[in-house]
Amino acid sequence: MGFAFLLAQVSPPGENLSTFDTATVQAAQIRDLGVLSLFVAAGILLVVEGVLLYSLFRFRRQPATPPTEPPQVYGSIPIEIAWTVGPLLIVFILVLVVVRTENEVRPRFPEPDEPAPANTERLYVTVIGHQWWWEYRYTKFGSEKLKDVITANELHLPAGDSIKRPVYLTLESVDVCHSFWVPRLAGKTDLIPGKPNWMWFEPREKSTYFGQCAEFCGAQHANMLLRVEVQSRDDFRTWLDNQKEGPRQPSNSRAKEGQAIFIKQACVNCHRIGGPSESRFGPDLTHFASRKTIAAGMRPRTAENVRDWIRDPQAIKPGARMPAMNLGEDEVNKLVDYLMSLE
Ligand code: CUA
Repeated sequence: MGFAFLLAQVSPPGENLSTFDTATVQAAQIRDLGVLSLFVAAGILLVVEGVLLYSLFRFRRQPATPPTEPPQVYGSIPIEIAWTVGPLLIVFILVLVVVRTENEVRPRFPEPDEPAPANTERLYVTVIGHQWWWEYRYTKFGSEKLKDVITANELHLPAGDSIKRPVYLTLESVDVCHSFWVPRLAGKTDLIPGKPNWMWFEPREKSTYFGQCAEFCGAQHANMLLRVEVQSRDDFRTWLDNQKEGPRQPSNSRAKEGQAIFIKQACVNCHRIGGPSESRFGPDLTHFASRKTIAAGMRPRTAENVRDWIRDPQAIKPGARMPAMNLGEDEVNKLVDYLMSLE
């Protein structure tokens, strides 16, 4: 498919963003609808361009004969009917297929308190769009209500097996419109300030899925990346249990000094690390070291990259809301030690 080829060209190697290589039933239904529309549109293109090319060629001016007017046809009832009914039928069929797909892909949002059907373990997560990163608040898994499970940019989900594990995302935004789009898992859904939206899908294949904010949201829209880890239920459980815990206490003196710097400097005004602070202006860092990347998926979370980021975030992500704090070299290194210890 030409479109899949194009997508493969723009995404980094190893990061599959193809809408054709689907990993859920929901994404496959959207793909099938897209392919059907593509074929219908291609058919129309062939007919229209075919008639055009035929006419251009067949009725081109003949050099030998003087130009004459072709026979003029007015008010031919069969032709009028044909070119009214044809497009109407095509639109009618496409509307029916779209409505059917819409009903299958977005049936209904079950309230978290509703009992789930047998053999079903539902996961509820609130996704909050920020310029330019993603906040995740896990609110319920199976029958367990969750509180204070807050993380950023990397979404962990349990794969379904003999038990269905549908994921319900409530989508919100604190600033401008964003759009949650992980092509292999589901269609795009917008995050609209002041109007919660939702989406749903059922992951089954354990893998890492990549995505991208799909609604232009400002300077770093292109670097608002999504990473979704679909894990076995056991691995997800281990991850979730760790996230439920408070932050690790610093184990050595350098990390302890780093913690003091974090509290003394302005870091704490925007970032939460456990504790009672409800600041959520910047990403929650309670389990920072359990993530693979920093800056919403831009760089791997290595000590060197974290150091560069704290020194000058604007050099990596111009326009990001975090300023350079003008800390001394030693202070930055201690901060890095502290952050890298927060597993
Ligand atoms: Cu967020 Cu584009």
